[in-house]
Amino acid sequence: MANLKLKDVAKTYGGTIDVLKNINLDIKQGELIVFVGPSGCGKSTLLRMIAGLEKITGGTLEIDGQLVNNVPPAQRGIAMVFQSYALYPHMTVRDNMSFALKIAKKSPEEIEKAVAKAAKILQLDDYLDRLPKALSGGQRQRVAIGRSIVRDPKVYLFDEPLSNLDAALRVATRIEIAQLKETMPDSTMIYVTHDQVEAMTLATRIVVLANKGIAQVGTPLELYERPNGEFVAQFIGSPAMNLLPGEVIATGPQTTVKMANGGVAVSDYPTLDSDMGRKVNVGVRPEDFLEVATGADFIFNGKVNITEALGEVTLLYFEKEPGASDAVIGKLPGIHSGLRGTEVKLGAVPAKVHIFADGESLLYR
Ligand SMILES: Nc1ncnc2c1ncn2[C@@H]1O[C@H](COP(=O)(O)OP(=O)(O)O)[C@@H](O)[C@H]1O
Ligand SMILES: [Mg+2]
Repeated sequence: MANLKLKDVAKTYGGTIDVLKNINLDIKQGELIVFVGPSGCGKSTLLRMIAGLEKITGGTLEIDGQLVNNVPPAQRGIAMVFQSYALYPHMTVRDNMSFALKIAKKSPEEIEKAVAKAAKILQLDDYLDRLPKALSGGQRQRVAIGRSIVRDPKVYLFDEPLSNLDAALRVATRIEIAQLKETMPDSTMIYVTHDQVEAMTLATRIVVLANKGIAQVGTPLELYERPNGEFVAQFIGSPAMNLLPGEVIATGPQTTVKMANGGVAVSDYPTLDSDMGRKVNVGVRPEDFLEVATGADFIFNGKVNITEALGEVTLLYFEKEPGASDAVIGKLPGIHSGLRGTEVKLGAVPAKVHIFADGESLLYR
């Protein structure tokens, strides 16, 4: 049960390779913070610095107001669950969960109580005498989580705990982790993933890491509805937000953009007189595109290259411009099998039209 404060935290390997810098973050007790970002952006490094497994080369880390930069991992009150479960194969579930407590010389009564409590939370009661090889991947991961629960840590750290599971099990285990958090509302958890669905569904707040720093911190819906730049806009949400070039032709509390392809976009993003004529990118999520009638204003028009009918929605893929590698994607509710090869005009309501200049949202300035 803890608050964490990261101040200007930095990591340099070998004195020269900058991996992270200027990480400033306050984590409150009871939060489930998710670190997301592309592979190699430093998510594991940041988590391992919090755990004490990796030296912090700049800045400070406080846990409950106490500077812990030089406190060894075992004394930080932190438990970490890894992608590989790292269970002892020759030990039963009970022994795997008891191990750290035995090392810490806890009494047999205390150990039994802690293991029973963790097993109940994780619904492992019936499996305590089994060996790991007689468990499914999801159950093994629960044992790994159980090993941290018995230690009653101040902070739980998870590094991509679900990435070794198959798709169906990943969804089931994700829901279990959400329920686990609800049974321990005061525990502080930090969870690393590159899966943005996990991030959206589990997090109280998401921290998007990119370019050695924090791109944006916010609740899942803040990041989805008001990304502060093109990077976060395209990282959160799937398929990614479409970005289409244009030029500001009317400013004020609403903004009008003349699109390079001939269309017109009206956005609820406000602009200043000085924004007149500015080259911008208009951002529209695939799910926010609406088909508009012939003759009506459109933001994008084009010939449908490919359709993917997913049942509840149909994805429409357009060539952004002749020869372009990235597609413009629309996601329309229902089935639209007849649209392939036809011209379609797409628009969006002003509340769903984002505007970015030089990569940054015009909402944050
Ligand atoms: N011991 C090390 N020495 C030098 N560079 C490292 C070391 N460990 C990790 N890195 C580099 O740090 C960066 C971040 O790695 P990591 O935190 O594992 O990323 P992520 O977990 O986001 O995929 C990567 O570019 C990686 O190559
Ligand atoms: Mg990693």
